[in-house]
Amino acid sequence: GYDVSKLLKQTGAVAYDPGFMNTAATTSAITYIDGDAGILRYRGYPIEQLAQHSSFLEVSYLLIYGNLPTPTELDAFDQRIRHHTLLHEELKGFFGGFPRDAHPMPVLSSAVSALSTFYQDSLDPFNPEHVEVSTIRLMAKLPVIAAYAHKKSIGQPMLYPDNSMNLVENFLRLSFGLPAEQYELDPVVVKALDLLLILHADHEQNCSTSTVRLVGSSNANLFASVSAGINALFGPAHGGANEAVLKMLRQIQADGIKPEEYMEKVKNKEDGVRLMGFGHRVYKNYDPRAKIIKATAHEILGKLGGNDELLDIAMRLEEKALADDYFIQRKLYPNVDFYTGLIYKAMGFPEKMFTVLFAIGRLPGWIAQWREMINDPQTKIGRPRQLYTGEPERDYPAV
Ligand code: ACO
Repeated sequence: GYDVSKLLKQTGAVAYDPGFMNTAATTSAITYIDGDAGILRYRGYPIEQLAQHSSFLEVSYLLIYGNLPTPTELDAFDQRIRHHTLLHEELKGFFGGFPRDAHPMPVLSSAVSALSTFYQDSLDPFNPEHVEVSTIRLMAKLPVIAAYAHKKSIGQPMLYPDNSMNLVENFLRLSFGLPAEQYELDPVVVKALDLLLILHADHEQNCSTSTVRLVGSSNANLFASVSAGINALFGPAHGGANEAVLKMLRQIQADGIKPEEYMEKVKNKEDGVRLMGFGHRVYKNYDPRAKIIKATAHEILGKLGGNDELLDIAMRLEEKALADDYFIQRKLYPNVDFYTGLIYKAMGFPEKMFTVLFAIGRLPGWIAQWREMINDPQTKIGRPRQLYTGEPERDYPAV
């Protein structure tokens, strides 16, 4: 009900760009995306090559420090992370304060925020030593917090980290291990999780990363900034999509409707339903991460014994959508999360943990972007403008 060009005139020289569709808020040397060509590179390396040859730990180093580590550097990074996995016992007390059915995402963001209260001596964003120790602490502790949030939600005891294991192995043991039992790592699960974490590790200025930067631009510390990013990731239009995909597939299965019928509902925008896991703000071509996942989903699910019926529904939806004018015209293709939920489920994670797994993957990207921002002399406090549409000046009624 208002005229944007008139409002722009009133406000002066500002750009009106809802959702920042056409605004570059920063320069960055971390991740390159060409959405039309379906290209994703971390620090120049194509995602396909990293997925095939690298590990999550190595990719984390690459994103945070700018180059691939030498074997010695990688080992030192790994050892430093292992050294910092323990949570303060008082922080562990936090988990008891949440309701049993709490979603693990807000538990994760609260506990990460609380890290600022335990490490008050090393929170200065402009002190490189503080930044370095915070980086390692966060890389080491966030997966432990995530596993504890899961244990809390299923009422099982929290194990201490086993530092003979690396980050990914330790996370799996903390999530699924029991005190009286030897936890056997399944190499298929370790490899699949490692791959999924690599694919999620950074994606330039997405909603959660922009949030980390915006909060950090006020010189808030790394824990505070990442905690805000976790909350941004919680939304179903962002990280919550992997959980939403599985809910949608289950619903289709439970209702006993054909994927085709569901597609009709989506196209008619009945009750605002969308084909979850489809569409992306930047990729207007096949998401390269979805391509990698699709190629391995069958193999992984075959080995882990996933729910074939849900996978069949997903494949059928994808096949139909790719041939449908509605999706073709709007350039809607599967995004990374179309298949990930099925794999996480086959690994044994409940749906509520899916977005938490995304957060573990995205962590090195958030850290790398925050560090880049802190070191960028161009950084200013993030402070968008607005076009005011409210009441003109009016007088308070006389009494
Ligand atoms: N199903 C059906 N229609 C869709 C979908 C979808 N998944 N996504 C977009 N559309 C339609 C919209 O209704 C709109 O149609 P219209 O022109 O007739 O109004 C058109 O495509 C453009 O959609 P926008 O919402 O303007 O596109 P935007 O770039 O803002 O949204 C988003 C991107 C949020 C990802 C959207 O595609 C979506 O909601 N997808 C489903 C949720 C999802 O999978 N999110 C994960 C994102 S990836 C990630 O975080 C890893």
